[in-house]
Amino acid sequence: MCGIFAYLNYLLEKDRKHIIETLIAGLARLEYRGYDSAGLAIDGDEAGEVFIYKQVGKVAALKKLVSEQSIDLERPFVSHCGMAHTRWATHGQPSPTNSHPHRSDPKADFSVVHNGIITNYRELKLVLEKKGYIFESETDTEAVAKLAKYLYDEQRGNNNLTFTALVKAVVKELEGAFALIFKSTHFPNEIVATRRGSPLLVGVKTEKKLKVDFVDVEFGTDEKVEAANLLAPPDAQRLRRSQSRTFLSEDGMPQPIEFFLASDPSAIVEHTKRVLYLEDDDIAHISEGELHIHRLRRDDGISAVRSIETLEIEINNIMKGKFDHFMQKEIYEQTDSVVNTMRGRVNFETHKITLGGLKAYLQTIRRCKRIVFCACGTSYHSCLATRAIFEELTEIPVSVELASDFLDRKTPIFRDDVCVFVSQSGETADTILALRYCLERGALCLGITNTVGSTISRETHCGVHINAGPEIGVASTKAYTSQFIALVMMAIQLSEDRTSMTQRRNEIIDQLKKLPDYIDEVLSLDQELKKLANDVLYKEKSLLIMGRGMQNATCLEGALKIKEVSYMHSEGILAGELKHGPLALVDENMPVILIMTKDSLYPKVQSALQQVTARKGQPIIICNEGDDELSKNYKTITIPQTVDCLQGILAIIPLQLLSYHLAVLHGVDVDCPRNLAKSVTVE
Ligand code: F6R
Repeated sequence: MCGIFAYLNYLLEKDRKHIIETLIAGLARLEYRGYDSAGLAIDGDEAGEVFIYKQVGKVAALKKLVSEQSIDLERPFVSHCGMAHTRWATHGQPSPTNSHPHRSDPKADFSVVHNGIITNYRELKLVLEKKGYIFESETDTEAVAKLAKYLYDEQRGNNNLTFTALVKAVVKELEGAFALIFKSTHFPNEIVATRRGSPLLVGVKTEKKLKVDFVDVEFGTDEKVEAANLLAPPDAQRLRRSQSRTFLSEDGMPQPIEFFLASDPSAIVEHTKRVLYLEDDDIAHISEGELHIHRLRRDDGISAVRSIETLEIEINNIMKGKFDHFMQKEIYEQTDSVVNTMRGRVNFETHKITLGGLKAYLQTIRRCKRIVFCACGTSYHSCLATRAIFEELTEIPVSVELASDFLDRKTPIFRDDVCVFVSQSGETADTILALRYCLERGALCLGITNTVGSTISRETHCGVHINAGPEIGVASTKAYTSQFIALVMMAIQLSEDRTSMTQRRNEIIDQLKKLPDYIDEVLSLDQELKKLANDVLYKEKSLLIMGRGMQNATCLEGALKIKEVSYMHSEGILAGELKHGPLALVDENMPVILIMTKDSLYPKVQSALQQVTARKGQPIIICNEGDDELSKNYKTITIPQTVDCLQGILAIIPLQLLSYHLAVLHGVDVDCPRNLAKSVTVE
């Protein structure tokens, strides 16, 4: 859902080519967040001049556009700041005009890149139009750039006005969710960034060791200016000055330094692993090699101290390596990612599971009246997939909610509820809003995410990181299987006080150990699935995927994968519901995949098979190895047999591979399917 990136260097002799390349490389890493248009802003040749380039399409199209400009690429800058954006359209169609950066006026006194939605932009636009501002785009963001200019012009002549104070005044007028980066010709070589509800982090790169490892700058002189001129909080005079020059080297000297601001770490890790995450309502100001963090409202009781953390991801985690697409790589990575989810948590000798993040809350969870899982899309499916084993092991009722619907219904939530928010990105707006809703009602809130430092991992009381590694392909694959395992592990740990469940738990833990080998076996079906896609399914318009019980989620998730990456209509059908309607779709022409793994519901799925074949349907069956009866009579895809509650992990992989091959055959940009974005940070 849009990626924003900015690059600032200080006391470094770099030419324009370097700056453009850094911005384009940052955008390319963020492209999976949105890819219908892209743009960047850099300094021009004269003081106060800004070059803004925007293009419809992917980052490569922007790169081409910039390369066609007759600008001096060797022009040196001692210090420079530029910013860039890759867009997933929410307001206005993809077009150069609607692309970011947006400007306040033709001279671009202020330019802005934005991720999120400004919900009150219509009101702002109306006011600004009355003041004579002419809008050129249909976006919400343009109102922000114009508001900055309006407030600046109001203060014209005030030599003490700082960029920070101005941005604070702008942000106080905004409603919605946003990460924003501002650049201005009035404040050359400075950048101000802020966030509310959308992620933003800052990477810091220096040659020398820093004097301090945290940013501890609360209130600079600008606060006084702000107080005097724009906002005048009553206690302004008590503000203290900056305490430290944050980015001095150990010898106390100013040093060359680079800053990278980005929506997520994937755009930063190739430059530096040292980052700090901005919090909601932080206003970060970077100028002359220093980063100062201010709070939007100093009386909100939230400290402005942010520690510098070390990113754990490696650059090869975000490269495709030998694979053609990230989706393909991530499907193959599942042999390792499931191990990483279990690493240090499962003791296969003692059959004990320890999820450190939940330790302090186990008793509270065990005593709760119900558990509410809340998520969207694939993450929602992982909750559905594990609900049965959760209920069986814990004997606590579990409800599974789609975050958006949960909020629409204003679901009653109580203090003795435990709410579990599952999200790969940890930044999905619907899930975050549902989390905040539950926090307000006093429920214990847990997060299951793949993104350390994400909003969900920070705002929940406790939780589990699934450690699947960065997932770049827009279609979620390895995160699903890791979420699945994390939830099963959680159920096992919660039930460890129930001796009646010991045997069941031990059986599952033994099978968890074998999972990587089983996954390897399933991955070896790749060529078979490619052939199935090519010979049987590629030309079809529609595909039904049926199963029941623990495989219901597999059907829904498999169908979601197929539709999102191959654009082929596909529907997951609970086999028990077949005769209540969907059976009308079945005839000799309708492709059907039936999941018939050996569990307690096998006889019931057999009756679904009869219902399909009686209507001349010719199902392709995903079944367990050794099911000779099925293999003899039907086209089958055989997968290893494991314990019922883990079987869904093995059954989804053939469907992931199938969707991948269908996408390639259809010529779809597999990692960036149309109209989608990896992280949906708007409602
Ligand atoms: C589908 C997919 C989406 C996400 C959904 C939630 O392949 O990726 O359905 O699962 O947008 O995203 P997270 O898990 O980041 O909250």
